[in-house]
Amino acid sequence: MEKLVIEGGRPLSGTVQIHGSKNAALPILAACLLADGIHVIENVPKLLDIEVMLEILRALGCRAEHADERVILDTADVNSHHIPEKLMRQMRSSIFLMGPLLARFGKVQIYQPGGCAIGSRKIDLHLRGLESLGAVIDVSADTIKCSVEKLKGEDILLDLPSVGATENIMMAAVMAEGTTTIHNAAREPEITDLQNFLNAMGADISGAGTDTIIIHGVAKLTPCLYRVIPDRIVAGTLMIAAAVTRGTITLRNMDPKYLTAVIHVLKRVGVQIRTEDDIIYVNCMNRPKPVDQIVTSPYPAFPTDLQAQMMVLLSLADGFSILKETVFDGRFKHVDELNRMGADIRQDWNSAFIRGVPRLYGTTVEATDLRAGAALVLAGLAAAGTTVVEQIQHIDRGYDRIEEIFQQLGGQIQRCALIPKV
Ligand code: EPU
Repeated sequence: MEKLVIEGGRPLSGTVQIHGSKNAALPILAACLLADGIHVIENVPKLLDIEVMLEILRALGCRAEHADERVILDTADVNSHHIPEKLMRQMRSSIFLMGPLLARFGKVQIYQPGGCAIGSRKIDLHLRGLESLGAVIDVSADTIKCSVEKLKGEDILLDLPSVGATENIMMAAVMAEGTTTIHNAAREPEITDLQNFLNAMGADISGAGTDTIIIHGVAKLTPCLYRVIPDRIVAGTLMIAAAVTRGTITLRNMDPKYLTAVIHVLKRVGVQIRTEDDIIYVNCMNRPKPVDQIVTSPYPAFPTDLQAQMMVLLSLADGFSILKETVFDGRFKHVDELNRMGADIRQDWNSAFIRGVPRLYGTTVEATDLRAGAALVLAGLAAAGTTVVEQIQHIDRGYDRIEEIFQQLGGQIQRCALIPKV
C-alpha cells in the first residue's frame, strides 16, 4: 500500500517523452494469441494492467518477458481457453481475450470482468458481435462460455461505437471464413494500431479510423515485430498538468493529430499550444478562462479519459463552466474529492457545474479510479500546501511511475509507504 505526497503550487517545466499506449498495447498483446510463435512488441509501458494481461497470457500457457518497454511473448505452447477468475476480475480488458481464444480454440470461458468502477460497463455488444460470427454463448451468473465450430464473416452493426467490442470482433473475425464488416465501429487511434498490428501479422483489414471496418478472413497469421503508438491520454494529462500549474512543458514522441479535440479545448481555455511533427509545446501563464460546455464523446471528440483532469483545470478558471460526460454513467467520483480541496463543483446526473475558484488547497484524498486518480495528482500539483493521494494502485494501472514523470518536470511529488490506520 502506497500513497503520493505532493507539495503543490510550483509551475511544471521541462521536457518529457510520452510512453506507449496502454489501451493500444492491451488488445495487441491479446491478439498475439492468434499466431503461434515468438512475438516482439515494443513500446509497451510498465503498468499494472499490462502486468495483469501478461499474467493471464502466462496462465494460458504463453512465455512472456517484459523488460525495457519490450515484451517477448511465445505463444507456441498455449494450452488453455479458460481465463482464471482472479485475474479476470482484476481487469476489464481481459474481455479482449474472447475474440482471439475463440478464433484459436473454437471455445473460451471467462468470468464477468472487473476493472475501474466508472459505470455499468456492459459487455452485450461484445457478446452479440461474437454471436453474429456464429459463436454460441452461454451466460450464467458469473461465467460466460462461448464456443463455435467455425467462425463465419458477417455484417455487424454496433448500437454504439464501443472501443472494446470493435477490437474483440476484429480479432475474432480475422481468421473467420469470408468477410466481416463492422458498421458504426469505434474510430479511436488504438483501433487503427490494432489493425496495423494484425495486418503486419498477415491479416486483411481496412477502414480502421473510420466507422466502417472490413475484415477479409485469412487462413493463417504469423508473429511479427511491432511498435505500439504513444499514449495520447498520458500526453493529454501532462498538457492539462502544465496548464493547472501555469507551467511550460514540451512533449516529445506524440503526434498532435491524436489530440486535436484536446488542443482545441485547451486553446479555448487560454492555454498556448504549438505543435511540430511529433512535438507539442504547452505554455500557460494566466488563470484559465471558463468554457460554456465541454462534452465527452467517442473519438475524435473530447475523450472521457481526460474529463476528470479537465475538471481540475476548469475548477481554477475565472468563471463558470459545464462539463458533460456522455460515455460512462459513473465517472464523476472525483467531484467530491476536488470539492474537499476547495473546488466548487455541483453534479447533476451526467453534468458537472463548475464555478472556478482562485486556488485549491492540499488535503488527503482518495483515487477511486485511474483517471480520477490522475486528476487528483494534478489538483495536488496546483494546490497550496500538501496533498496526499491514497489508493494509488488505480493510477499505476495507466501511468508508468507517475511521480517520476512529474519529478522530471520539477514537480514536488514522492511515493511513500502508506502506514495503515489502526
Ligand atoms: N458499452 C455497452 N456495451 C458493451 C460495451 C460497451 O453498453 O458491450 C458501453 C459502456 O458501458 C460505455 C460505452 O459503451 O458506457 C463505451 O465503452 P467502450 O466499450 O467504448 O469502452 P471500453 O472498450 O470498455 C476503452 C478504454 C477506456 C476508455 C473507453 C472509451 C481500453 C482498455 N479501455 O474502454 O479506457 O475510456 O474505451 O474511450 O481500451 C482508461 O484508460 O481509463 C479507460 C477507461
